[in-house]
Parts: sequence; C-alpha cells; structure tokens
Amino acid sequence: MIQPEEIRISVIVDNTPLSGFSSEHGFSLWIEAGGSTLLFDTGRATAFASNLRQLDIELSRANMLVLSHGHYDHTGGVAHVLQEVPAMKVCMHPGALTRRWSIREGVAKPTDMPADGKEAIRALNPSQILNATGPMEILPGIWVTGPVPRVSKFEDPGGPFFLDTEGAAPDAIEDDLSLWIKTTEGLVIIAGCCHSGLVNTINYIRTVSGEKRIASVVGGLHLSSATTERLENTVQALKKFSIGRIHTSHCTGNEATELFAHRLGCPVSATAAGLRLTP
Ligand SMILES: [Fe+2]
Ligand SMILES: [Fe+2]
Repeated sequence: MIQPEEIRISVIVDNTPLSGFSSEHGFSLWIEAGGSTLLFDTGRATAFASNLRQLDIELSRANMLVLSHGHYDHTGGVAHVLQEVPAMKVCMHPGALTRRWSIREGVAKPTDMPADGKEAIRALNPSQILNATGPMEILPGIWVTGPVPRVSKFEDPGGPFFLDTEGAAPDAIEDDLSLWIKTTEGLVIIAGCCHSGLVNTINYIRTVSGEKRIASVVGGLHLSSATTERLENTVQALKKFSIGRIHTSHCTGNEATELFAHRLGCPVSATAAGLRLTP
C-alpha cells in the first residue's frame, strides 16, 4: 500500500502562480505515487508548457494522462502532450469530447476541448484509451471514479453550462471524474473541477473504495460561484467526514478556502502553479 509521504504532487497550472511561474485560468497536476507517475489535466494554454520547463518535468515519464473532464481549461495542452509523447495512454470519459458552451447574458461561449486536442485523441490507437465509464483502478492503488452519482440536493454543476447554443439542453458534465489514491492513512482524493459536487464525489469514493478515512483532498472544488447556502451545506457535510488536510486549487474560490480553514478543524491551504506538495 502507498504511504502518503511517498506521494509527490507538483502543481503545473493553477489560477495563481508562485514567483517565477506562469498562471492562467486552468488546472494541471503532476502526480508521483507508489512508483507510478500521472499527468492529471493539461491547463488551458501557454502556462502549461512554460511551467513544465520551469518544473523540469519530462512528460515521457508519465504512465498516463488523466483528463478530469472535457473543459478547455483542463484540456488546452492535450495536443502538446500527445505530440511530445505519441504513445501516451489517456484515461477519460468519452463525454470529454462533447461540444458544449457556457451561456451568459444570452452569449454562448464554447467551453469544450480545443479542436487540436480532440483530433489528437481521435487519432490515437484505441488501445491507448481507457474509457472511464465507471470506477476503475488505472495504476496500482490509483483509481478514477468515472461519472459520479448526483445525490445531494444542494450541489449542481456550478455554472450556466449547456450542450447547445440556445440554452435548451443543460450540460450536467457527466464526464467529470475525480481520482483517488489508497494510502496507509486513508484516501488521497484529487479533483479537477469537481462539477459533480464535492460532497457527491467524496461520498461516492468512500462507498466504492470501502475506505472511510480521508487523508487529504486536493484540487479544484468549483465553489467560486457557490451560494452562501451551498457553502454552508458543504461545510456541514464535510465536517462528518473528518478530513486530514485540504489543498484548494483553481475554481475553489477564496471564500470557500477561508470558510473551510475556519470551520473544518484541519489544515487548509490554497495551491499555486509551481508548488510542490505532499498531500
Ligand atoms: Fe476548471
Ligand atoms: Fe470545468
């Protein structure tokens, strides 16, 4: 079983940077755990490639690229990765290739994976793709959820997301998945955007894994536009889990990070591009 102190996570892309690194609205992590190495998401645009160089990361060392979902801010570097490492295995839900938009004030903006990324994935040998249509162990001790059941009444995908430009078909972002690592101290849960809802995601992982202890939660928790009521309900639910530590990233929002720090009784800190952490 993997020891938590053996896990190393480098934040390649985040909404804020450490000095000397680039930032953008996007997310990407480099995860080393139990002899396996994973690239989790690929940021939005130029910060991804420049921070890889700054962090001295060799993409060819990754056993796999995992895509948390198909949004542009997590898939902007897909074409770059597959050009650099054509034999890379890719784990994702097939819905990550879906066309989709966000609609604000009547204006529809595409939010799907850039065309060059979709093309690069479609050109892969089918044996390189792991379709995460359900929970699966992708590397020893490392799992992805596949689609997360939407159970809690107070959580939603967290934005005006649609599968059409008219706003007739809401996008539940079914392709959203999270990852977990089974460690001797409990679960290390890693989320990209967590459109399924943080409480839904944790509940599902605890049920599927059979492990109730949560060593830490890392990633984008998509609470930056959450109502006060949703934040309060989230805090009440998280208190019941007894989480060891939380590292908030990307779309979590300062308000949620501060609220968790004040109310949850565990260390809570925000990540930044360039940060290396042990979860
Ligand atoms: Fe995101
Ligand atoms: Fe997203």
